[in-house]
Amino acid sequence: MMTESKANSTVSEKVESRGKSMATNQLVELIRMRRSIRRMTGERLPDEDLELILDAARYAPSPENMQMWRYVVIRDDQEMKRIIADISQEAARYVFGNFPYEATQGRLWYLPDASRPSIYEDIRDGSLFRYPEKADAVIVCCASETWHDSTAMYPNELCGSVVVAMGVLNMWLVAHSMGYACAYQVVPFVDKRHVEFICDKIGIPRTWTPIAAFCIGIPEKPRMLGPSRWPLEGSFYAERWGIPYQRLAFRNQKAKKSKQKPKTKRKKRKVQR
Ligand SMILES: Cc1cc2nc3c(=O)[nH]c(=O)nc-3n(C[C@H](O)[C@H](O)[C@H](O)COP(=O)(O)O)c2cc1C
Repeated sequence: MMTESKANSTVSEKVESRGKSMATNQLVELIRMRRSIRRMTGERLPDEDLELILDAARYAPSPENMQMWRYVVIRDDQEMKRIIADISQEAARYVFGNFPYEATQGRLWYLPDASRPSIYEDIRDGSLFRYPEKADAVIVCCASETWHDSTAMYPNELCGSVVVAMGVLNMWLVAHSMGYACAYQVVPFVDKRHVEFICDKIGIPRTWTPIAAFCIGIPEKPRMLGPSRWPLEGSFYAERWGIPYQRLAFRNQKAKKSKQKPKTKRKKRKVQR
């Protein structure tokens, strides 16, 4: 069982020990409370806060530590942010434009009934995806399937975007812990014509592929609710594909039942005649 001192240990003490600590609890809470926040005010973050966030990306793992990620931080070029916002809206309208309202109801369950139609409309006309223009930093995240810094020339195709994603999540969690809004936008990089255009505009060479615009800014308001996740057994199997992982809470139900004291038989009352 976890002792109180262990539960309160700091991060550096934690690496010396095993098991759950205060740092674990805080980290788990951060992970659970992280949300995509797409409404940003357009204000700037303090430079040192942004740098702390960017720095977290460096610590992500990569195959043989090749660090095949590059991030273009667009902060001052408002025109470029607007171009990315325009492309995002156009691409999102193409994706969501003919989504029937009914199809969104399950996904948007967490929104109050009154605001659901207008948010749905923002999704359909793509305006919800204009947020890069209100972000302080629009980080164009680039992956490479060809860039190697290792003697082992194994195929990178499963690694390029994975390492970028790991870096992004590091940044996202640090930014979230500081109360900043983040959202991850792939829609401007779906259509090859948009990719070419953006690469030309910001000088990304052919060996690198932009995969997302990760946006960081000041939130209009905090966001608590969002799409829910499946329970563990919805995503994890036990030992073999298709056998649902069983949560601790539901394990050994039979064993528990059999351990329960057998009910004492009621003595039959003697019926007086
Ligand atoms: C690979 C990937 C692509 C995504 N594409 C977009 C996108 O283009 N625009 C956007 O606003 N959010 C995008 N998202 C964010 C998801 O919509 C969001 O994470 C998901 O709905 C869960 O919501 P949450 O982040 O609030 O928990 C993307 C996320 C991932 C991992």
